[in-house]
Amino acid sequence: MSSEINPNKALWEKGDFTRIAVTMRESGVALVADLGIGDGLRVLDLGSGDGTTAVPAAQLGAEVLGVDISSTLVAAGNARARSLGLGNLTFQEGDASDLRDLSDDTFDLVVSIFGAMFAPKPFDVAKEMVRVTRQGGRIVMGNWIPNDPTLVAQILKISSAYSPPPPEGFVSPMTWGVEGHVLERFDAAGVPKGRISFARDTYTFNAPKPPAAYVADFRDYYGPTMNAFAAAQQNGKEAELQQELEALFERQNKSAVKGTTSIPATFLRVTVTV
Ligand SMILES: C[S@@+](CC[C@H](N)C(=O)[O-])C[C@H]1O[C@@H](n2cnc3c(N)ncnc32)[C@H](O)[C@@H]1O
Repeated sequence: MSSEINPNKALWEKGDFTRIAVTMRESGVALVADLGIGDGLRVLDLGSGDGTTAVPAAQLGAEVLGVDISSTLVAAGNARARSLGLGNLTFQEGDASDLRDLSDDTFDLVVSIFGAMFAPKPFDVAKEMVRVTRQGGRIVMGNWIPNDPTLVAQILKISSAYSPPPPEGFVSPMTWGVEGHVLERFDAAGVPKGRISFARDTYTFNAPKPPAAYVADFRDYYGPTMNAFAAAQQNGKEAELQQELEALFERQNKSAVKGTTSIPATFLRVTVTV
């Protein structure tokens, strides 16, 4: 990759997304359990982070490659694979909009849960996902939905209200949560709409701490929220942003156990047969 700063990469190497990922593990396991994964299936997890879905896929016997733009998350994923003794799981650096290191028709299943949606150039992302999937293989994406009332869409919406406007030509990652855009992108990649299905699904964020402490994790470790706090600080609005997020997390917390947080969030699940 070139030595120029890539803002997409910088965003996800900022902070430490593993601190949020640990609160997403149960839903990662549940999602993967539903995908018919068995011994020897060749799986690509795109925007894999430190392996919330890649690890359980490998534990079910698949040959899994995790690809992520963040070198720190790739290292964290490989450390998890080693410590779990998973010789069938490797992570490497790559960009979902240009998978130049991967050959055509390689994978039986491409999974991207809140991963590829964050890559720029969504039409290239769809083309690359289709290219590396074998004929008859599947692509499964999990995408946050714009303006959805649940957690992540609201975090991103609140954060953007405190952030400077995005550069011209920027395509919001949230557009991957709109069925019409998804159909258009895969159509351009050669997949007709009859081979694409949609479902609403839920991911639950479970943290062994109260909502306000969980907000602090987002403020301190989650790139998009860190950037929003940096921008808010410049306008003297840091406390306001903190309060808005704390109110959101408190409102959405469904945990019956005092001092803990459990927040379900709705996403669009996209299944594509190539
Ligand atoms: C919200 S995290 C989700 C990670 C993981 N899928 C999970 O469920 O825990 C988004 C991930 O997408 C990765 N990502 C962002 N842009 C990317 C790109 N252009 N190519 C590959 N990965 C990317 C980030 O580094 C990060 O790991």
